[in-house]
Amino acid sequence: MAFIIFLTLAITIFFILIFRIITSSPGSKLPPGKTGWPILGENLSFMVNPAKFISDRMKKYSANIFQTSLAGAKMSIFCGASGNKFIYSNESKFKTWLPPTLVDVLSLTNIDSTSSPWKLFDEQLHKFLRLESMQHYVPIMDTKVREHLEKHWAPFNQVKVLPLSKEFTISLFCNLILKIYDSDQIKELAKPYHTLVKGIISVPLNLPGTPYNHAVKASKLIRDKLVELVRQRKMEVLEKKDHVNVDDVDFLGGLLRASIEGGDFISEMELVGKIVALLFAAFHTTSNTITFLMAHLAEYPDVYEKVLQEQLEIAQSKEKGEILNWKDIQKMKYSWNVVCETMRLKPPALGGFREASTDIHYGGYTVPKGWKVHWSVYSTHIDPVHFSEPERFDPSRFEEKQGRGVYVPFGLGPHMCCGREYARIKVLVFLHNVVTRFRLSKANPNERVIYTPDPVFVDGLRINLCSQKE
Ligand code: HEM
Ligand SMILES: *[C@@H]1O[C@H](CO)[C@@H](O)[C@H](O)[C@H]1NC(C)=O
Ligand SMILES: *[C@@H]1O[C@H](CO)[C@@H](O)[C@H](O)[C@H]1NC(C)=O
Repeated sequence: MAFIIFLTLAITIFFILIFRIITSSPGSKLPPGKTGWPILGENLSFMVNPAKFISDRMKKYSANIFQTSLAGAKMSIFCGASGNKFIYSNESKFKTWLPPTLVDVLSLTNIDSTSSPWKLFDEQLHKFLRLESMQHYVPIMDTKVREHLEKHWAPFNQVKVLPLSKEFTISLFCNLILKIYDSDQIKELAKPYHTLVKGIISVPLNLPGTPYNHAVKASKLIRDKLVELVRQRKMEVLEKKDHVNVDDVDFLGGLLRASIEGGDFISEMELVGKIVALLFAAFHTTSNTITFLMAHLAEYPDVYEKVLQEQLEIAQSKEKGEILNWKDIQKMKYSWNVVCETMRLKPPALGGFREASTDIHYGGYTVPKGWKVHWSVYSTHIDPVHFSEPERFDPSRFEEKQGRGVYVPFGLGPHMCCGREYARIKVLVFLHNVVTRFRLSKANPNERVIYTPDPVFVDGLRINLCSQKE
């Protein structure tokens, strides 16, 4: 018996050695780094602080590429401006990949965006979100922001920015993407949505009572509600297909119309899964940006004054109470630099994930086909090579143009975030309305920021409000 065990061990060791020799042969060296614990991988250290996770490993292993294990998968992290550019100019070597927990909770059966129904979804989405169409949404966004501030900010001396901006995010999304305006209907979607988001970033254990299990259930609830909505909208589109009112073209309406015209039906379940995923892409990102922007305005009075100056000039060039338009947005140059510096230091999205669809040679190493790949905003945003004293908040950095692949909050290349104009307009309109109405100070100057893995204020950022003198 002992002999058999010994023999098995010896054979195993022999094969491991052979394997090592083969895999370490020149030209097919795996990227340096370690994969950590089984299943969990290095997941924990990543979740606790992705910024430190990336910069520590860039110092320890290589500033170009290292390996780790995240979200249950072997993963190579491409670093630096060259790593970002490599991924973005070599799209054909990669395919779309999302962490399995996300795919599971959203019940996405197919994330390959080149398959036919998805092509239509993505085409329509890009059409809806591109700059030329977003320009027309400035007045609507302004109206919505004013309503929001009037209802949720103006009556109070103190507000919690993060939960409010999340609420605003969902409600604006429902208005513009789905044409839902009824506030009860929005609440019915928002409530399970918060449960869903909590579950996605929890331990993926689907047992009764776990946050993950709640998320799976919440997701089903939302999708059932959305399926109802989609059916109803389909009927409407079919009935009214001849007289289209350009003003009420929301994303869903446009998509349903195009799919009916093209005879290219997407299954209802898949469609709503994709809509929930879209909300996910818009949700944390824009609400976090607004929150950290408000924190920076409260922390840096000189920055606040300069933003206020710019925004007052815009307000004074208009009739009192006149709604903002696209031209006004273009004048918000300094304000946009402040937003950019906010997104540099507190990136709203981690970066992107892919899967290697072939063996990939980079920086002297080989990433085997099938490995997952991650590019991280942190590998350049907080690197002193690109930003001197990277910890310092300094919007003037953006007076100069950044090198390609360096400042990448929205990514780069063909998969760059298609919601960036939506996000830009929304955040700037929000900023305009806040500074022209309120002075801000932090209720607790020591409120901590933790990573979840997105950076968030532990208490949602409590801010004291003072109304702005006319
Ligand atoms: C400050 C706000 C936002 C930031 C920083 C941000 C950032 C990003 C990043 C880094 C990516 C990944 C690119 C990659 O995989 O390489 C991405 C993708 C995406 N984002 Fe955003 N995003 C924001 C807001 C939004 C909004 C508001 C929407 C929708 C209305 C949106 C929709 C999308 C979609 C659909 C993708 C996938 C694009 C593709 O794979 O082709 N994002 N975003
Ligand atoms: C990684 O760890 C965090 C923290 O425990 C957890 O929330 C997350 O679900 C884990 N992800 C995976 C895919 O294991
Ligand atoms: C894309 O891949 C090719 C071949 O691996 C490489 O020579 C090229 O430099 C890559 N592009 C960038 C911008 O890194």
